[in-house]
Amino acid sequence: MKNDRFKRILLTGSQGFLAHHIIPALRETFSAELVLVSRKDYDLLEPGASARMLKDIQPDALVHLAAKSGGIIDNKKRPASYFYENLAMNTAVFHAAFEAGISKLLTLMGGCSYPSSARSPIGEDQMWNGYPQIESAGYSVAKKMLLVQSWAYRVQHGFNSVVLIPGNVYGEWDNFNLEQSHVIPAMIRKYVEAQDAGKTTMTAFGTGKPTRDFVYAGDVGKTIPWFLANYESSDPVNISAGRRITIRELAETVKSATGFTGEIVWDTAKPDGQMDKIFDVTRLHQLGLACPTTLEEGLRRTTDWFKLARRQGNVRL
Ligand SMILES: NC(=O)c1ccc[n+]([C@@H]2O[C@H](COP(=O)([O-])OP(=O)(O)OC[C@H]3O[C@@H](n4cnc5c(N)ncnc54)[C@H](OP(=O)(O)O)[C@@H]3O)[C@@H](O)[C@H]2O)c1
Repeated sequence: MKNDRFKRILLTGSQGFLAHHIIPALRETFSAELVLVSRKDYDLLEPGASARMLKDIQPDALVHLAAKSGGIIDNKKRPASYFYENLAMNTAVFHAAFEAGISKLLTLMGGCSYPSSARSPIGEDQMWNGYPQIESAGYSVAKKMLLVQSWAYRVQHGFNSVVLIPGNVYGEWDNFNLEQSHVIPAMIRKYVEAQDAGKTTMTAFGTGKPTRDFVYAGDVGKTIPWFLANYESSDPVNISAGRRITIRELAETVKSATGFTGEIVWDTAKPDGQMDKIFDVTRLHQLGLACPTTLEEGLRRTTDWFKLARRQGNVRL
């Protein structure tokens, strides 16, 4: 039997990457009506739009996914846009949700909000120990304010909200635009295009030795209904696989998933960046949740989807 805690769940950012993975999981869990809105319906940067949206739709739960998100290149170019748009949108949506008296708000921030000096595995208690990586600080500091909002509105108004911290997410429906994309979609696109162009080598930067923690979006999506139904705290929770993958392993796995038959050449004169960035998922596991999809399986699904979506003109390029 489906969970009947809510009558109407509203989703912002419903055309985005993670929404495509969260919507089926919400449908499977809840009997509630799901109302999906995008920027075309309500531009949440417009003054009064958040309050109007909540008045029109009258949800009792809100899953707020709308955000200005992007990869490192665009973050470096436009830090003010990332800062302003996320801070303005989240402040307005949070306040309007409290004023509308909805019973629960769930939203997401990112692992990039952790201090650049955080020690892996990065636990939730390290969040306030330092400043994040400077290249994306506009975005990640704005997003970090969600934690303060969640706490402040709970203390003063008893408003029930949850902020979760997905790690480096990848999967179908991601953004494959090279300026805006994260490392995995960029790599998949480059290897697929290299194979199409008959290239015999692909250059990868650094030694390939640094390690990262990647999480499949389908796994993240499946955890969200549980948090909406059961988790009543402003203490954040990391949502990641918690597995160490070297950049070399990642490149080899992308190579095999995409079918690139050339050779990967490592340009070791290029810097490696941070050596180790892994999330501590103890809290997630204590709640009985996990992100189990292997990198091989997740990359295979993502690559298959990318190849098909590209042919159909149905992907952000
Ligand atoms: N992707 C990741 O690796 C990752 C990791 C951790 C956390 N997160 C968080 O997860 C959430 C969803 O991320 P995502 O990757 O799914 O992002 P996404 O694909 O960029 O989707 C975000 C959506 O928000 C919408 N939006 C942006 N500005 C808006 C505005 N002013 N009014 C209304 N809608 C607006 C966008 O619509 P338009 O396309 O029309 O602009 C887009 O559909 C975000 O809060 C993000 O910070 C993502």
